Amino acid sequence: MPTRLKATTVDRLPPGRGMEVKHKGLNIALFNVEGEFYAVSGVCPHSKGPLAQGRLRGRVVTCPWHGAQFDVSNGRCLRRPATDDLSVYPVYVVENIIYIETQTNSQEEAQWHT
Ligand code: FES
Repeated sequence: MPTRLKATTVDRLPPGRGMEVKHKGLNIALFNVEGEFYAVSGVCPHSKGPLAQGRLRGRVVTCPWHGAQFDVSNGRCLRRPATDDLSVYPVYVVENIIYIETQTNSQEEAQWHT
């Protein structure tokens, strides 16, 4: 059953930045692309690099470890050495709060890291 996870507030994630959201074994990278928010798997499928720490240019994030690139709007892998796409999570903004829809059953608030 889908659950809305309270990730952070809009003011804590400025445009062009990413944030790691961990919750119940999930590691999600949340990005602000010019005011639009996108959430994808936070673990690079190549060797588990931290994608939330990658450089974001437009909708493309570059893995900080070996340079693979992904479109954060759809999870598509754009450049090797990674070859697999990322999981994508729906994002909702309600009254300045950013929610990520997950498949967990918990109603607890996520930890967040900038
Ligand atoms: S861990 Fe991301 S490109 Fe290697």
